Amino acid sequence: MSEALAGPYAVRRARVLEALGDRAAMILPAAPELRAGSDVDLRYRPDADLYYLTGYPEPEAVAVLHPESGAGRYTLFVRPRDAEQELWTGVRGGPEAARERFGADAAFPIGELSQRLAGLVAPADVLYFRLGTGRHTVERLVRETVVRARHARQRSGRGPRALIDPGALLDEMRLIKDDHELALMREAARISVEAFREAACAVRPGAGEWAVEAALEAGFRRRGADGPAFPSIVAAGANATVLHYIENGETLPAGTLLLVDAGARFRMYNADISRTFPVSGRFTPGQRALYEAVRAAKDAATAIIRPGVELREVHRTARRVLMAALLDHGLLEGDLDALIAAADEADARAASTAAGRGRGAAGEKKEQAYKRFFPHGTSHWLGLDVHDVGDRIVDGKQRRLAPGMVLTVEPGLYIAPSCEAAPAELRGVGIRIEDDVAVTADGHEVLTAALPTAPEEIEALVAG
Ligand code: GLY
Ligand code: MN
Ligand code: MN
Repeated sequence: MSEALAGPYAVRRARVLEALGDRAAMILPAAPELRAGSDVDLRYRPDADLYYLTGYPEPEAVAVLHPESGAGRYTLFVRPRDAEQELWTGVRGGPEAARERFGADAAFPIGELSQRLAGLVAPADVLYFRLGTGRHTVERLVRETVVRARHARQRSGRGPRALIDPGALLDEMRLIKDDHELALMREAARISVEAFREAACAVRPGAGEWAVEAALEAGFRRRGADGPAFPSIVAAGANATVLHYIENGETLPAGTLLLVDAGARFRMYNADISRTFPVSGRFTPGQRALYEAVRAAKDAATAIIRPGVELREVHRTARRVLMAALLDHGLLEGDLDALIAAADEADARAASTAAGRGRGAAGEKKEQAYKRFFPHGTSHWLGLDVHDVGDRIVDGKQRRLAPGMVLTVEPGLYIAPSCEAAPAELRGVGIRIEDDVAVTADGHEVLTAALPTAPEEIEALVAG
């Protein structure tokens, strides 16, 4: 039996089907195919939700999970076999493979969706379907189905009249990784760590940022990864103070720091690592002190990760360490506890109301002064998406960590070239250290732990 049939997908579908019951259906279209310019096909990237529940990799598909139809509850609509098209873009499985390899109860060519969809979802009051994914024909069909059902409902007492985003069911499931997912994420992390080691050997004064990028991405692909999880950030000197610098087009100045933020995607699962290297092989004392502060923030935030802890505490822990370092360096002024209390209050205000957010821009400069140096959060969920799904607030309460969640821990400090409060040595410096951490039954597992962070070990990596 194929992996898709025997593997985790059927288990996940069974959970969703149970939640749907006999009065709801879910319609999951494959992601659209993307083009660059007029006719260059980009490598296809499946939709995460569809893949999570089916493992189906081909474009154009639509999966429907529906009330019992007499032929089961899982119907796949797929591209039909087509010798002429297959000559250009490769073999298609067609409906037969959809049944035999992907476990569909029934499967049809995608061209039959318009005549069959209404019947499959007719007993459902609720349709789980995402608007705005770029599958316009499918979206139009769903809209027509709901409009027609409004009339039919008067006679049958059944028929869809509510649309809900599938994330309402799937986000919570995807937030807790199962063993199959954790194994893939460990592999994505392992590949990324090895590629980072190779890329570190390319770090030297005068080398191109692109050469480090090339070493990283060769390292990913050589080990069978799908490719980079996101455009790799290879940012030397002041480029590292631009958080999403992806041009990677300059050379590495001697004596500066190089921030590398990259990760492999392996069978759809992502890793996301940052390390900061001294271009000349040694941190200066000032660079090292700032680096140690970021590392201490990362270690302190990671140390608290275990079930039951509020996610926001990870950020608050990292922020406290970084704020203390900024005070030490004379980059912030005031009392640590007062600054933290003010920052907490400002965050709470910004989270609670639109009015609060409005006030934030004008009135919170002082409390938020640290944001000049640490402008981003400490964590995001990681999984099928790099910034993976999962609400941070649940029923009005802070999300608590639970076994199976995977998050990044990625504090950073960035000092703008124009920052007059900083000594010349530290102007135009960006430092970020990022690990991927799984929550376990009684603590955590750092998936990227094999890539060191101690400054002397980082120096040794650069020396090759
Ligand atoms: N590389 C994007 C991030 O760290 O979130
Ligand atoms: Mn990253
Ligand atoms: Mn990240």
